[in-house]
Amino acid sequence: MDSNIRIEKLTLNNFRNHKFLKLDISKNMVLIYGENGSGKTSVLESISLFDTSHGFKASNLSEIINNDLQGPLEMFGVNLLLNDSNNLKKIGIGLKKTMDKFQKIISIEGKKTRGDLIKNTPNIYSVIPKMTFLFQSNSEERRNFLDKMIFVIDSNHKKNILDYEKHKIERIKILKKWKIQNGEWLDAVEKKMVSYGLIISDNRRNFLKKLNFMLANIDKEFPLLQIKLKGDLDKLLLEKPAIEVEEIFASTLKKNREKDLLTGRTNYGANKTDFNVLEKESHKDVKLFSTGQQKTILFLLIFAFIKCLEQAPYNKTIFLLDDVFSYLDNKFVNMVLEKLNELKVQTWMTDVKGDWIFENNKYKEIIDRINIDDKRFKVN
Ligand SMILES: Nc1ncnc2c1ncn2[C@@H]1O[C@H](COP(=O)(O)OP(=O)(O)O)[C@@H](O)[C@H]1O
Ligand SMILES: [Mg+2]
Repeated sequence: MDSNIRIEKLTLNNFRNHKFLKLDISKNMVLIYGENGSGKTSVLESISLFDTSHGFKASNLSEIINNDLQGPLEMFGVNLLLNDSNNLKKIGIGLKKTMDKFQKIISIEGKKTRGDLIKNTPNIYSVIPKMTFLFQSNSEERRNFLDKMIFVIDSNHKKNILDYEKHKIERIKILKKWKIQNGEWLDAVEKKMVSYGLIISDNRRNFLKKLNFMLANIDKEFPLLQIKLKGDLDKLLLEKPAIEVEEIFASTLKKNREKDLLTGRTNYGANKTDFNVLEKESHKDVKLFSTGQQKTILFLLIFAFIKCLEQAPYNKTIFLLDDVFSYLDNKFVNMVLEKLNELKVQTWMTDVKGDWIFENNKYKEIIDRINIDDKRFKVN
């Protein structure tokens, strides 16, 4: 499929340790290599800024500006030349500062835009080393992990979550200001939460069905896995018809008003989704497996997700794989890369050396291999 989105040029100005960096890319696979601290992760992070959801390192925007930058903020920038279905388009990110706070400004063809960013910017799907702790970490991380996969195949999901969050925050604000006296207003906001929340939960349920199907059909040599939803609302949706769940959701929000006011959080809803992963044979939760096994299991989930893309409109997506070679078996990385290459998803990877992948004849042809320390790419 030639209509996928691809980055053809990437230019960094005063981004982290890169005073200036310009990369020309002609292939679908990009391997950035260089010593530790040379700025490989930073390159991927700069791309991830174009994602309208969370950033790569959850960092404070002030941290991404080169420490030595003396001049005005205009000297900072990340610019891409994107090939989107054979149309070339320039998109860029700058920063502005208002009252001590930095804000991202995205421009398309040089024009600042508040328009439909979701339509005009690529979907960035990142795999970062921190994710290998997914099964040990909190429910929010797991929920984000799930949602980010869904964002790739359904851009409405992002919008629904933003809308749900907005109403969730509004409800808590009303509760704090009016206690539970302003019943009509609360009813209206809760009604919105119920309708967005149900769409979100239903999307998650449907996506997990697909993912579970893929997991059940992966190579026999890997453990058989099954993902189970854990949130109250999600479990209810598995048991009862949507119309009944809708009523229960609404009445629970109402019943919880006092409790939610006291705790300052929403104790029931789509914001509580979580899942666990079980090894089918032993019925063991994978969080009980060794750290090494958990890394492989995480990648099995990601591989199953990539397989789901075969049947989904994913052509706005770019994959970022930071440092995965350092903890994954080559055979496994091979499996993932082969599939991504077959789907023609542009994939950016980092490694200290990356020799095995480059020595592999199959990849030589299809990989742009960039030594980040090469002086031709930069001016210091
Ligand atoms: N705002 C900044 N200004 C200058 N240097 C920075 C800034 N932020 C991070 N760095 C440095 O950039 C270097 C590159 O980091 P990183 O991209 O993580 O390297 P790699 O992934 O190649 O190991 C690190 O040494 C880090 O301390
Ligand atoms: Mg790194």
